[in-house]
Amino acid sequence: MAKTILVTGSSGLIGSEVCVSFAAQGYRVHGVDNNQRAVFFGPQGDTRWNQRRLAEQIRGFVHHELDIRDRAGVLALVKEVRPDVIAHTAAQPSHDRAAAIPFDDFDTNAVGTLNFLEAARQACPESPFVHMSTNKVYGDAPNGIALTELATRWDYADPAYAHGIPESFTIDQSKHSLFGASKVAADIIVQEYGRYFGMPTCALRGGCLTGPNHSGVELHGFLSYLVKCNLEGREYRVFGYKGKQVRDNIHSHDVARFMAAFIAAPRAGEVYNLGGGKANSCSILEAFALAEKFTGKRQVHTYVDQNRIGDHICYYSDLRKMRAHYPAWDITISLEETIRQIVEAWKARPKGA
Ligand SMILES: NC(=O)c1ccc[n+]([C@@H]2O[C@H](COP(=O)([O-])OP(=O)(O)OC[C@H]3O[C@@H](n4cnc5c(N)ncnc54)[C@H](O)[C@@H]3O)[C@@H](O)[C@H]2O)c1
Repeated sequence: MAKTILVTGSSGLIGSEVCVSFAAQGYRVHGVDNNQRAVFFGPQGDTRWNQRRLAEQIRGFVHHELDIRDRAGVLALVKEVRPDVIAHTAAQPSHDRAAAIPFDDFDTNAVGTLNFLEAARQACPESPFVHMSTNKVYGDAPNGIALTELATRWDYADPAYAHGIPESFTIDQSKHSLFGASKVAADIIVQEYGRYFGMPTCALRGGCLTGPNHSGVELHGFLSYLVKCNLEGREYRVFGYKGKQVRDNIHSHDVARFMAAFIAAPRAGEVYNLGGGKANSCSILEAFALAEKFTGKRQVHTYVDQNRIGDHICYYSDLRKMRAHYPAWDITISLEETIRQIVEAWKARPKGA
């Protein structure tokens, strides 16, 4: 009997990658998505094209048009499907957007996560539960690390962070944005269902998760959006930090591979910093150069001398805990290859998608 995976946020970047990847491993795939991204971000955030892609590519794919805030609906669905694995990737994913929609943000990110955890505890407590958390749980505390300014990027001056930010970094007493706060609530409750109830849960604190299937918009999905702007000759706005702010980028394929490693040998209540690490990090200025290399077009951009509230100046994940717990896993797709794929994907994407 084939195993079943239930993927929330299945039409999004990570959810869709997880659906395709686990279908290829022989899983029956159930997706939950109500295209809320289009509500959060407008037509540019629409993910219906990706839902159609899954229906075409995955045999037997079952789509559930369900809002994860609908508690009764979530409890009934998980009871009915009783999945062998739950990958929870649905979210309001933008820290800037959250300030305008605090109830939608918290109800989706925190309460929606609780809905699925409790549904899993009631129906399938043995099933691994993988939650997509975020590095915004650390708030702006990483900005307190001593930095050094290089020609095109900021970097940590403190040798304690030579490998990046570890999972032991404080999540307390810093500015998170409302999004960061709702994700902290989710992250902690995911850990608690592991620690308190012994369920095989983990929270993956993502750096910049990216890949060819992102519907990048100005408020979320920076590499996807940056490449889209480049191709369309549209102005990309840089917010503060001289454009030298550093993000670590991980291809959605390597995210799905880590989920598979965890599911094969789950632990209870774990957290991992899942980013591209230093090797896959870049500043905005460096990302412009890489996009230009693959499109052959100059990046049109302006500079706004005001950083986004709580934005990290320099962030890259320390990948050593993941590598220690799951030695067969590592990053397999370089930043350059990721950007090349994003360029190709935007060129091929159906018009208006
Ligand atoms: N992309 C990144 O850079 C990044 C970085 C760190 C963490 N994360 C986290 O990873 C996860 C996945 O991110 P992504 O980039 O794939 O986001 P995404 O926006 O591409 O996908 C999320 C999907 O969830 C759906 N959704 C949202 N609210 C919903 C609701 N109430 N009911 C049903 N469906 C709903 C959306 O329609 C969308 O298709 C999120 O938890 C996000 O916070 C992402």
